[in-house]
Amino acid sequence: MKFYLAPMEGITGYIYRNAYHRYFRPMDKYFTPFLSPGQAGELRDRDVKEILPENNPGLCLVPQLLTNRAEAFLGAARLLAQYGYREVNLNLGCPSGTVAAKKKGAGFLGFPEELDQFLEAVCRGMEELGMELSIKTRLGRREPEEFSALLEIYKKYPIKELIIHPRVQKDFYKNTPNLEAFALGMGKSACPVCYNGDITSAGSLQAVSARFPELDRVMIGRGVLADPFLLERVEAAGKAVCRGDGADSAALPDSKEQRERLRRFHDALFGEYRRVMSGDRNVLFKMKELWSYLILCFQDDGKYLKKIGKARTAGEYEAAVAAVFGDLEMRAGGL
Ligand SMILES: Cc1cc2nc3c(=O)[nH]c(=O)nc-3n(C[C@H](O)[C@H](O)[C@H](O)COP(=O)(O)O)c2cc1C
Repeated sequence: MKFYLAPMEGITGYIYRNAYHRYFRPMDKYFTPFLSPGQAGELRDRDVKEILPENNPGLCLVPQLLTNRAEAFLGAARLLAQYGYREVNLNLGCPSGTVAAKKKGAGFLGFPEELDQFLEAVCRGMEELGMELSIKTRLGRREPEEFSALLEIYKKYPIKELIIHPRVQKDFYKNTPNLEAFALGMGKSACPVCYNGDITSAGSLQAVSARFPELDRVMIGRGVLADPFLLERVEAAGKAVCRGDGADSAALPDSKEQRERLRRFHDALFGEYRRVMSGDRNVLFKMKELWSYLILCFQDDGKYLKKIGKARTAGEYEAAVAAVFGDLEMRAGGL
């Protein structure tokens, strides 16, 4: 199984990716959170920082673009080629209301004819550039039944890989992933398919793998944010199954080592954000967003997370984090 880290705007930027890659089981592929190119494909400075090779050493990284204009996509792809990228991912999954209202992300799925024309122009241009296109898609705008027609469109083009998050735009992150619709994608797609959605434990991955034995790649987002040991857990469970002695966690570090490694990861992340970002306010905002996931590593009844949320200065924040690491038991067995 190949593992990809899901792109998550505001969270899985290069600083997070590097820290994750260094402290935990590396991912096979990483994706940038969506970059929004200008009309001719120009990228903002902060987007260029995301993709600079020196900011992503040793990572297999695929830049992701959010646009519905072929010229913008190809202009940005040309720029990305100059930095050495050979694959670009198209975001057809973002459910945000403002994005969808502009016919972008999952909103673009509601306009199949325009999407078809866009893909035709993009694929022609990408071939000229010697680059490959991959797509991250939802099932449609409103109903999963839209997916079949979308698959017919995708089939017409030389797409490198189709990552399917089996929800529709109007689900946002509610409801459960629609595995029936995902099965349709697996069956109909002309290119390799990657599963994405709600994998939070070795058990939930095993359930998807059992249903789709031919599946050989998955993308994970929130599950890894909440439990950065997830891939190690999956591997340990796999080894235990091979030995036939059940899914114990023999190959996993014990809770003391997990706590220490998580602490080092946290400190590296916090230190790096403070080094590159202006103002602790922004740094704290980022760290608090991450803690809304990471707190699940610990047995907190809500009090400790609240204290982190209330921190107004780096000092208050560090004290709240020290209390988490000092006082709380870890959920060493995962989520
Ligand atoms: C805060 C947040 C930001 C996200 N940003 C992006 C993004 O920039 N590009 C994208 O394709 N998907 C984005 N997603 C969707 C995730 O990549 C992923 O498809 C989704 O979280 C489902 O996978 P999971 O259940 O493993 O988290 C975002 C999701 C969240 C919650």
